[in-house]
Amino acid sequence: MSEPAIVKEYSNDEITVLWKPQQCIHSGICLRGLPQVFDLKRKPWVDIKGASSEEIVKLVKDCPSKALSIKGVKFKEVDNSSTEVNLIPHGPLIIRGGATVKDRKDETVHHETVSFCRCGRSGKYPYCDGTHAQKKI
Ligand code: SF4
Ligand code: FES
Repeated sequence: MSEPAIVKEYSNDEITVLWKPQQCIHSGICLRGLPQVFDLKRKPWVDIKGASSEEIVKLVKDCPSKALSIKGVKFKEVDNSSTEVNLIPHGPLIIRGGATVKDRKDETVHHETVSFCRCGRSGKYPYCDGTHAQKKI
């Protein structure tokens, strides 16, 4: 039987940020983007008062695994003709702005944001599942 999903909540007067630890791929985008809010050296690691709601919402939209979300808000997928490719040091390759992936069965899946594993150890290969964070690659 699989373990129940853990969802942590962090609220200010306007928004509630949700974080699903099992879904986090440790890209570090949140830590680098808003270090005053997301800081692993602190407990709890999210200080919702560290930035404006607007700044936090903008950052949460960028979480490639959707481990971070805003309660009750479904972000519209970006309609973007330019695709951005980002190599995360010791982590995945993240594509934003749309990518169509063809699997071994020749089936295609479109992702607006997708993280590909570079360490070869992901349980969801070719997608990153955060395993890389257990040992540097
Ligand atoms: S996957 Fe999301 S929550 Fe996890 S480190 Fe990256 S930006 Fe932060
Ligand atoms: S790069 Fe994330 S699991 Fe391989």
